[in-house]
Amino acid sequence: QVAGQAQPSPAPALATSNQPAGKLTIIYASQTGNAKGVAEQLKDEADAKGIKAEVFAAGDYKGKNLAKETHVIIVASTHGEGEAPDDAIELHEFLQSKKAPQLPNLQYAVIGLGDSSYEYFCQTAKDFDAFLGKLGATSFLPRLDCDVDYESEAVQWRAQALGKVEETLKSDPASGEADIVQLPVGQAAPAVSVYSKKNPYPAALLASQKITGRQSGKDVRHVEIDLEGSGLTYQPGDALGVWYDNAPDLVEAILHKVGLAADEQVEVDGELLPLADALIRHYEITLANPQLVTKYAELSGSKKLAKLVEDRDKLREYAANTQIIDVLSEKKAALSAEQLLGLLRRLTPRLYSIASSQEEVGDEVHLTVGLVEYQKGGETRQGGASGYLAQRLEEGDSVRVFVEPNNHFKLPVDDTTPVIMVGPGTGIAPFRAFVQERDNRDAKGKNWLFFGDRTFTEDFLYQVEWQKYLKSGVVDRIDVAFSRDQAEKVYVQHRLLEHAAEVWQWLQDGAHFYVCGDATRMAKDVHDALITIVEQQGSKSREQAEQYLSELRKSKRYQKDVY
Ligand code: 2AM
Repeated sequence: QVAGQAQPSPAPALATSNQPAGKLTIIYASQTGNAKGVAEQLKDEADAKGIKAEVFAAGDYKGKNLAKETHVIIVASTHGEGEAPDDAIELHEFLQSKKAPQLPNLQYAVIGLGDSSYEYFCQTAKDFDAFLGKLGATSFLPRLDCDVDYESEAVQWRAQALGKVEETLKSDPASGEADIVQLPVGQAAPAVSVYSKKNPYPAALLASQKITGRQSGKDVRHVEIDLEGSGLTYQPGDALGVWYDNAPDLVEAILHKVGLAADEQVEVDGELLPLADALIRHYEITLANPQLVTKYAELSGSKKLAKLVEDRDKLREYAANTQIIDVLSEKKAALSAEQLLGLLRRLTPRLYSIASSQEEVGDEVHLTVGLVEYQKGGETRQGGASGYLAQRLEEGDSVRVFVEPNNHFKLPVDDTTPVIMVGPGTGIAPFRAFVQERDNRDAKGKNWLFFGDRTFTEDFLYQVEWQKYLKSGVVDRIDVAFSRDQAEKVYVQHRLLEHAAEVWQWLQDGAHFYVCGDATRMAKDVHDALITIVEQQGSKSREQAEQYLSELRKSKRYQKDVY
């Protein structure tokens, strides 16, 4: 029996009793929605098994309630430098604090989602596992740390976890057998929408226009996609998932390197297809990762790679800055198709913050896509998804998409609430959606935008639109930082600091503060600038300022969409 698979069945006969309810609680810590997806699948599969289960976002779950639980599964993704997703920070902090209760009656399991190219792979999951263990809870299944292509591993782990829950709930006298309701397999909740990550909508590309100038060092595209007839809807702040095709010439180059024929038949997910097609559609062939380098070091016998593998930091740095084709070029090796596919990760869709509001554009969806491109040994290397969207796709071509809701990046419900938006570079995307939405809703709240990029003449994304919004009064203020228009660097955080008193006043007036864009440096520097502003303007100690921002975050007035 496969849980969650639809089967014709008679009317469900529910076995109920008066015993106290023992149930499974599923808590997810999600940044982009993947952990939420896994949690919801767990819930569906638990339902199908007749296990009573409840799902909570970490931000909506009170940590002290863990003392009342008997069975908990935590699904946790990690982002940035091993940090917990914003929504989970509170629970993460609580479990390490003195306030955390002892949990001798709790049985738990943790599944982590992460990216093994990062040093702090699945750190949030590891943390939750350690915290619960320390509080006296018992793990009923070893933690699984999943890499980016987590789907098949996760399916197995979920089945094992629910098997264990079923066993222990049944044998646990405290929870009582009654908690396993006799639901026939196949009662999984219906999908919310026809099109999803697994079943993407083949949309038509309406337009892809370069919006940086001729002299710009960057190629940023404004992309428009047609959703008409798909029934897909989105809110400002949501992301669009894009399944992309790899570049055929890159596939050819890789096959040539390892001495394989394009038409060799291989099997992917039970389907036989030519190797070249498998590489175009199903595998990640641009970015390298430490595992790939390690495996290829062995297969090729390259001394240089073997040496790299010995030094974790060097290996990670090399993998992060080298495309797969360049790893293969370190030393030529003839591979079998199986060996080649064994090196590669499965393709995962890319998420782009949506740059439009449906109030403004109806059945379309707009994106702001920065083409990733650099030179290596006289050749041009491109990013997989950005190369596809910006260059390989032509108007009218079909692109497979789905909507990935992001409840951690939403306009205030109250239209009179002021908002401050900080979005340098392509981080501007969701703010175009925010402002379109607020304009169409005739929202009375004030809007303040901070934008930054390299130069005013070449890189001012959507300049004409911003000027129009400023003129009509939809946007109250725009402050720009063009980093390369003068000798010294000027960034958005400098503009924030220059206007510290007004930023503080806006926050005092209840403003929501949003940041979108680069996570490694920009978002951190903006956060530091905010701390300084709160310290100085609010006459607070550093600790109090941090506390203030933490409260702001908890009350959803400080939201980030960073990558
Ligand atoms: P730079 O590349 O000239 O240093 C969008 O990419 C803009 O973000 C660019 O102007 C870029 O400047 C800038 N940027 C780079 N690092 C930043 C940081 N730490 N904080 C804010 N902006 C940054």
